[in-house]
Amino acid sequence: MTPVDAAGPTGIALRTSTADDLRAIALLDGRAFHWTLPEEDLELFRRGSFDPANFLLAHDGDELVGATGAYDFTVRMPGGGALPAKGVTWVSVAATHRRRGILRALMRAQQERMLADGLAVSLLTASEAGIYGRFGYGPATVRHSVRIDRAGASFRTHVPDPGGVRYVETDELRALAPALHARWHAVTPGALDRTDGWWDRILADRPEHRDGDSQLYHLVHGDGYVTYRIASRDNGRICRITDMATAGRDAYVALWRVLLGLDLIGTVTAEVAPDDPLPHLLTDPRRIRTDGRHDGMWARILDVPAALSARTYGTELDVVLDVEDPFLGRGGRFRLRGGPDGATCEPVTDAPQVRLGTSALGSLLFGGHRASSLGRVALVEATDPAVLRRVDVAFTAEREPEFGTDF
Ligand SMILES: CC(C)(COP(=O)(O)OP(=O)(O)OC[C@H]1O[C@@H](n2cnc3c(N)ncnc32)[C@H](O)[C@@H]1OP(=O)(O)O)[C@@H](O)C(=O)NCCC(=O)NCCS
Repeated sequence: MTPVDAAGPTGIALRTSTADDLRAIALLDGRAFHWTLPEEDLELFRRGSFDPANFLLAHDGDELVGATGAYDFTVRMPGGGALPAKGVTWVSVAATHRRRGILRALMRAQQERMLADGLAVSLLTASEAGIYGRFGYGPATVRHSVRIDRAGASFRTHVPDPGGVRYVETDELRALAPALHARWHAVTPGALDRTDGWWDRILADRPEHRDGDSQLYHLVHGDGYVTYRIASRDNGRICRITDMATAGRDAYVALWRVLLGLDLIGTVTAEVAPDDPLPHLLTDPRRIRTDGRHDGMWARILDVPAALSARTYGTELDVVLDVEDPFLGRGGRFRLRGGPDGATCEPVTDAPQVRLGTSALGSLLFGGHRASSLGRVALVEATDPAVLRRVDVAFTAEREPEFGTDF
């Protein structure tokens, strides 16, 4: 990213990281998140995902007191297009220096750098949901934590049994999974690509990260894979799915057939999109319980025309948006003309039909939320309910967005 050297709040200087800062950043982050990053993890991170140019640091004299970093991703847009995007990560401010505006200064400088680098979108996953709306981020995906009563779950008679699933060890999955994941990434709005560094980190499966559960087990099919751990709890054994990507119907059904056939396992748990089709496969969909609903990935639109013209729309739409962006000053009026074949978006001075903030627009970007739902709490305002209805239909994506890689 474009280097930065800037003043933060009084007495705080901001600068771009160098490779030598990693240990200090890990210590700052460890204190903020109450964890210790073992040397082996730091090394995996250094080799695979750490680009010092993506990290911005805040100093009080010689002391490192704040940091924000980013990963480089390619995010899939509705309709199959893609955008380069930074995934913001490793955000922390020392407990001795909180609530003085250091995060605000870091966020501001980071977003300005992303803009200077020509990026249209920034992404993140939030430790606390109350932090990032003020910086223009909006929750952009929804994911459900589900728990399936395995023994009681049986497939409806119409459901095929495609077969073709086999167990592989981690080395073989490491060779096969990137291509399978890339096929899933190609068809899933919101999906993030994975570099070799990500695969090495995810599959390192170091005992320190197992929380007392089993090693990773892997099942592959020609069009998908699933990775899981077995956890032993007082109420029995649980199969915890940690990663799954399928690029075809057969792979999805075949993998779930094996998972729900795991004898001696009481429960299978997974994180799924709200439109996950598993309930339709079971004779008794109530065997699937939703334990939680999470915000998943957040999106911050930095460049409205570039972001909105990178996706397609479910129906023809011609609307003037008034976007408020007090944090970065990149709002304004934009005419969006889009449809199933593509879109254009350009600044205009015409009277707006829909008013919303960047945070709300981020929530609509991948089709994870409905404009009318945000409208019911005044986060989106339209001159005419029919316009809002059209925006709803147009922004709906081919399927619910999923990002796939926690970062
Ligand atoms: C979250 C954290 C980075 C905030 O840093 P900070 O320098 O104290 O934040 P700032 O002083 O710049 O605060 C900026 C704004 O965010 C708000 N804010 C900060 N932390 C918040 C939190 N945890 N929840 C809700 N709002 C928060 C502040 O009230 C302030 O609001 P305002 O200026 O709009 O009135 C810091 O508390 C931290 O390191 N926490 C632990 C690690 C963590 O959760 N990191 C985020 C990872 S996604």
